[in-house]
Amino acid sequence: MNDKQLVALHAAKYVKDGMLVGLGTGSTANYFIEELARLTREQGLRCVTIASSTISAQKAQSLQLPIVALEHVSSIDLYVDGADEITSDKTLLKGRGSDLVKEKLLAKAASQFIAVADASKLVSHIGQNFTIPIEVIPFAWQLTKKSLETLGGVGDLRPNPAKDGFWITSHGSYVLDMRFDKNLDASALNTLINNTPGVVEHGIFHQLTDLVLIAQDGVVSEH
Ligand code: 5RP
Repeated sequence: MNDKQLVALHAAKYVKDGMLVGLGTGSTANYFIEELARLTREQGLRCVTIASSTISAQKAQSLQLPIVALEHVSSIDLYVDGADEITSDKTLLKGRGSDLVKEKLLAKAASQFIAVADASKLVSHIGQNFTIPIEVIPFAWQLTKKSLETLGGVGDLRPNPAKDGFWITSHGSYVLDMRFDKNLDASALNTLINNTPGVVEHGIFHQLTDLVLIAQDGVVSEH
């Protein structure tokens, strides 16, 4: 069993009968979804799920997990998702994919948000290994990019995989992948990006995580 799978199985221990559980997106979240399905099938666990992306919804459905749509709920019990970077104060960088909007809504709505990762995701500061993904309204991208540049941001629109157009998120936004001065801490950056017109959502998850589970060399630790 690899560390991503191990940490996902550990997170599944937090799921109790009757919970509404948010499903993250990515390879670690996939292991969590598979474990929920196994517990439902083999141990009679009863929970309802809500997905942060179409791909996770499809996975949950294919495993016969009960699923509800986001528009039908106003709160959830538990959300479990992976991350691209994690700092010691539990700030996350997320969103290499296209599903930041729902991921942050679920993280905020959850009574408990558990981030799950292997130790490769631990960093000293947000932006250490990845650019910050910033979803922008397509017609505003130039104005928004300019505003972000005045904050010290450097970057550009994310191209699509064929490189013949731009990446479009699940919600029809473009993505600016930006680097900022590493001395600008994640809390300040979070506020500055939140206050930038044209921004739909961004990948810094600050003060949203209740618990971080890290697996390293077959051992899970809680932070
Ligand atoms: C998707 C995410 C993922 O959770 C993040 O990219 C981690 O993915 P993985 O578990 O495959 O390493 O934020 O938007």
